[in-house]
Amino acid sequence: MDKPDWDKRYREGFYSGAVDPHQLVQDFWHLLPTKGNLIDIATGTGRDLLFLASRGFRVCGLDLSWEALKLARGLFERNGLYLEAVQADALSLPLKPGSFDGVLIFYFLERQIMSELSSLLKPGGILFYETFLKRQNEIDRPRNPAFLLDDEELPGYFGGLEPLFHEEGIFTIDGKERAVARYIGRKKQ
Ligand SMILES: C[S@@+](CC[C@H](N)C(=O)[O-])C[C@H]1O[C@@H](n2cnc3c(N)ncnc32)[C@H](O)[C@@H]1O
Repeated sequence: MDKPDWDKRYREGFYSGAVDPHQLVQDFWHLLPTKGNLIDIATGTGRDLLFLASRGFRVCGLDLSWEALKLARGLFERNGLYLEAVQADALSLPLKPGSFDGVLIFYFLERQIMSELSSLLKPGGILFYETFLKRQNEIDRPRNPAFLLDDEELPGYFGGLEPLFHEEGIFTIDGKERAVARYIGRKKQ
């Protein structure tokens, strides 16, 4: 399976309606250090960052797609909030280790960067991660399994973090059944 053309997808209206943050962020954002400095990798239209920016966090959204970032900037402007938007490839992250109070990744998986994610956190910083399991392919259209997780794979990447939350299974998300893994961990002080 080819990698999707994300710019084309966003131009064609993919995700244009989704502005609410993911449930994991709604339920656990209070774990983040107050008014901290956050990055969302593969941010898309910035839905999670919008919610967090409105709660006083400084937010940076990184995505490969210019079209996604254009939508994200528009969303922030309409809400009177500021987004630092970075167009970059997550496979060569242009980010300094130890510079973020929070790192978010939703529905993006590249195994080669997993070990880098916790190194971006300051001591006490929090990682939020949620994405599809391979089991998703049994209940929905086929996605490339290279970008899907095995059961119980996700927490294995973050042995250096203190786990705060982890669940895996089939949940109803935006009215549809989704097989996902969710993880939150804190970098030790
Ligand atoms: C499924 S969307 C998820 C967007 C957002 N995190 C959310 O959950 O609403 C995947 C995102 O990954 C971005 N993306 C794909 N490959 C990328 C890469 N190599 N580096 C950075 N972003 C990438 C796409 O442009 C797209 O916005």
